Amino acid sequence: MRGADASESCNAVPAIPDSSPYERHDSLTVVTYDHLEIVRNRADVGSYVDLAFRSGGPVLELGCGTGEVLLPIARAGVDVVGIDIASPMLDRCHVKLIRESPSVRRHVELVRGDMRRFDLDRSFALAIAPFGGFMHLLTHDDQVKCLRTVVGHLAAGARVAFDVPNRRPRCFDAPGPTDWRADDGQISLADGRRIARFTRSVARDEGPQVFDFEVAFEVVEPDGRANRVIERVPLRYTPPAEIEQILGEAGLEIENLYGGFDHQPFDACRSDDVVVVARALPSGEGP
Ligand SMILES: C[S@@+](CC[C@H](N)C(=O)[O-])C[C@H]1O[C@@H](n2cnc3c(N)ncnc32)[C@H](O)[C@@H]1O
Repeated sequence: MRGADASESCNAVPAIPDSSPYERHDSLTVVTYDHLEIVRNRADVGSYVDLAFRSGGPVLELGCGTGEVLLPIARAGVDVVGIDIASPMLDRCHVKLIRESPSVRRHVELVRGDMRRFDLDRSFALAIAPFGGFMHLLTHDDQVKCLRTVVGHLAAGARVAFDVPNRRPRCFDAPGPTDWRADDGQISLADGRRIARFTRSVARDEGPQVFDFEVAFEVVEPDGRANRVIERVPLRYTPPAEIEQILGEAGLEIENLYGGFDHQPFDACRSDDVVVVARALPSGEGP
């Protein structure tokens, strides 16, 4: 496990640390994750729990983070292994897990690892990457590599399910970042800090479809001092046509493509989300 390092901040010029904020214990991305309105009020959890329950388990969650999907799956009585590269996120998941009853805890295993390369020496009935987890893989090749690794862990008849946004981020349409957008409401942390959060997207030069999701946290300390911290998470936008290609290269095919978590059909013009349910290609048709 990596040690914690101080989140950089200053009043005038906000600092943007280079390492992923998920990998720093005191990054505000980690500290505020479970408080975010988009995390607390999300539409996807029931749908993933339903898929997990119908699969009978065991389930593999790629990028399980703080367990917002993993724990409800375990509460439904399904065995689930969560893999995540960031120990700060896993630590938070672990803290939540130990508050659960023994009957829930026994369904969960947490593994620190990279979703592109892991060997768990067992098979799963379902592998999931909720909440855009797949966007953290920044190249076509990494996305294929991840799904190939997953295919090597699938039991017969198993499925793979994940969601990504349908629309190309607006930062690719014009030079420069998008405007900052304020989140609804303020976050109050147990340590007395009050935080307002603003987000924007900035296209990266070095790779097509890769952008930084930048978050500005305006923090008021308990003693009234205010400061601003900016953190950024690089993400990849994968268009729906490319998703199908990536699945094929990994030895998977689409079973169902939805436009949201109510399982409405995917509509390239109207859908906000691309929700993919895939299965392994019949043997002999793989890559
Ligand atoms: C947006 S969070 C989603 C967490 C959780 N799945 C949820 O639905 O709330 C994305 C997670 O993916 C993890 N992650 C990013 N890249 C990864 C990689 N290469 N391998 C494993 N986990 C990764 C991050 O550490 C983070 O916890």
